[in-house]
Amino acid sequence: MRPILADRTLPRLHGVQHVLVTGGAGFIGANFVHHLLSHTDAVVTVLDKLTYAANEAALAELPADRCLLVVGDVADASIVDPLVAEHDTVVHFAAESHNDNSLDDPAPFVQTNLVGTFTILEAVRRTGARMHHVSTDEVYGDLELDDPKRFTEDTPYQPSSPYSASKAGSDHLVRAWVRSFGVAATISNCSNNYGPWQHIEKFIPRQITNVLDGGRPKLYGTGANVRDWIHVDDHSSAVQTILERGRIGETYLIGADGEKSNLEVVRLILRLMGRSEDDFDHVTDRAGHDLRYAIESGKLRLELGWEPTYQDFEAGLAQTIEWYREHEDWWRPHKEATEAGYAAKGQ
Ligand code: NAD
Ligand code: DAU
Repeated sequence: MRPILADRTLPRLHGVQHVLVTGGAGFIGANFVHHLLSHTDAVVTVLDKLTYAANEAALAELPADRCLLVVGDVADASIVDPLVAEHDTVVHFAAESHNDNSLDDPAPFVQTNLVGTFTILEAVRRTGARMHHVSTDEVYGDLELDDPKRFTEDTPYQPSSPYSASKAGSDHLVRAWVRSFGVAATISNCSNNYGPWQHIEKFIPRQITNVLDGGRPKLYGTGANVRDWIHVDDHSSAVQTILERGRIGETYLIGADGEKSNLEVVRLILRLMGRSEDDFDHVTDRAGHDLRYAIESGKLRLELGWEPTYQDFEAGLAQTIEWYREHEDWWRPHKEATEAGYAAKGQ
């Protein structure tokens, strides 16, 4: 059944967790809502502004008595305050999430990622709700390709882009609200996610849909840049683990030892899709392009006992390719405009 679009909240059920998921119609948020509903008894309210990045369709099959969609802005206290008051827990995914967009127009990144997080924090300060803040490994800047070190919870913040700077700022707000006001929050910083429902502006879905269209993948610069890939289901299980066993005030890095250069990923997509591995274009590089991300997730694994399920990137990628092949009706309406935007920038 479709979730109901409404200005009401779900009825309170005794002994059941009521979870507010901001950005729950986005790529990771929607996958997390599915995960939570199938692994717990929680009832969920999604608060989402339904920006260009939202996937209402991803919530369409969920049971209406356990999932409600409220359309609204996380930076609007008149919506956030009464909603937070009705929930035990807030999981805060809502954000502007694409680095390239933040280079074209940083304003919505500051508004949603900073003012939005501030608005959520003020609401949980008033009600005492438990909060989990979903953040990114990009707050730590980047690593050299040959650096033996990986990011840990102690790595100094050094964000490069307007997106990562806004996420870094939001993390600092959460820590300040924990220390100054006793807000019951945890933070996670995760590496690059892949899987179903990811917007086709992002690297992996863009290349898969280019190939499905008979076109060529587009590699920024040399393609030597490294990302540390994790399947979105593993991100969801990590957030659930932190909600259940994480220590208040703590930060946990989430990663699945998935380092790959962009060139390796493009070649693998081409091979899995039956094309020559050389069938791609080098295009204009991203300004300030971070070279390498790599996560050391020992704290999450040793303290909380979390382990990723997807250990085989090639198998996860093949599954994701199949998903995009089967969901052309979902991505097709956005493909032409997305590619036109990139083409205008030589990308
Ligand atoms: P996404 O862009 O796919 O989804 C973001 C969702 O937030 C959308 O549904 C959008 O409508 C909603 N939203 C945006 N502005 C809003 C506002 N003002 N009010 C309410 N809703 C709003 O993003 P994603 O890739 O799913 O990322 C989700 C979160 O995870 C973000 O906080 C991001 O920083 C973080 N993260 C992402 C990755 C990744 O690889 N994608 C990795 C680590 C952390
Ligand atoms: O590390 C976590 C971050 O991962 C999240 O915080 C962000 O929300 C998420 O978007 C992602 O950021 P990236 O900038 O790493 O992801 P993106 O998919 O945009 O790009 C991945 C890599 O691929 C990056 O090195 C840029 C490159 N790229 C991207 C596109 C869209 C290309 O080479 N070609 C492309 O067409």
